[in-house]
Amino acid sequence: MKKKMVTALLAVSMLAGLSAVNVMAADDDTITVGFSQVGAESDWRTANTESMKSTFSEDNGYELIFDDAQQKQENQLTAIRNFIQQEVDYIVLAPVTETGWDTVLQEAKDAGIPVIIVDRMVDVSDDSLYTAWVGSNFKLEGQKAMAWLDAYLEAKGRGDEEINLVDIQGTIGASAQIGRTEGLEEAAKEYGWNIVAQQTGEFTQAKGQEVMESMLKQHDNINVVYCENDNEAFGAIDAIEAAGKTVGPDGDILVMSFDTTNAGLTDTLSGKIICDTECNPLHGPRVEEIIKKLEDGKDVEKKAYVEEEMFAYDDTVKSVKVDDKDYDVTKITQEILDKRAY
Ligand code: AHR
Repeated sequence: MKKKMVTALLAVSMLAGLSAVNVMAADDDTITVGFSQVGAESDWRTANTESMKSTFSEDNGYELIFDDAQQKQENQLTAIRNFIQQEVDYIVLAPVTETGWDTVLQEAKDAGIPVIIVDRMVDVSDDSLYTAWVGSNFKLEGQKAMAWLDAYLEAKGRGDEEINLVDIQGTIGASAQIGRTEGLEEAAKEYGWNIVAQQTGEFTQAKGQEVMESMLKQHDNINVVYCENDNEAFGAIDAIEAAGKTVGPDGDILVMSFDTTNAGLTDTLSGKIICDTECNPLHGPRVEEIIKKLEDGKDVEKKAYVEEEMFAYDDTVKSVKVDDKDYDVTKITQEILDKRAY
């Protein structure tokens, strides 16, 4: 840890009668980063943790203090306060939900520690409480997925069919849930689709399965399931199949998902997931770029959205349009899957 190391070296060298020049030469350039991670709820999260850990490695000149909050905001607040006490050089926060951060971020600001927000967003009264944010445009993800569904149904001659959709939401209050749910609700209104049920699956496979089981018991007319991440989709597919129904292009139910993890795209290849919209988890190098700029005294972008792709089982829909911008849809193949980084 830079600051503590210098203090310790000063004390030792004063005792030993060494000069200040020797002290500075002995200081190392290790940058200490405290990272408060949401948890390990999904394949996406595992890929994200791996990206952060491999970027902020000792070999790359960092000391990473990693904290897994097990999806609880109170654990994240404790972790940040510990990082402040430890006098880390940077705090990186992947917030579980958007609200509730003002006080602790003010404490970090008072301690002079820059905070970088990653993945989901924080909703704070004063945006000087964080230095930079990098992550996904979650609403756009939802809008792209819904534009795809509309185009797909039209192309398949199902444009006039009654669509009874269920939404297995993410963790309520997380940007990924808020944005994706908004994208769905706006499209349902626009296209006249029925949202017959909405419930959180907390971004996990187990909860996704449980929620889908109960939705299937209550509604026998579901023809689209909108899962707000891949792990919920895996659980939903298990529940649908266990109930004797089928998924896929010719099945009873179309399953839509987000993340495009390796397992998610494997299910897209078979058609179990009909369309998977990317949420890119490889934020380690992006956060490092911000830290490097700050170290060099350069300006950083306050908010940066990452570019994301879309993948589908087939090429029925080749692109979608949202707010006058076109986004390509790629038909997934084994070759594409094999080359992907996560
Ligand atoms: O915030 C990103 C979301 O969090 C991903 O879609 C989900 O898989 C993860 O848990």
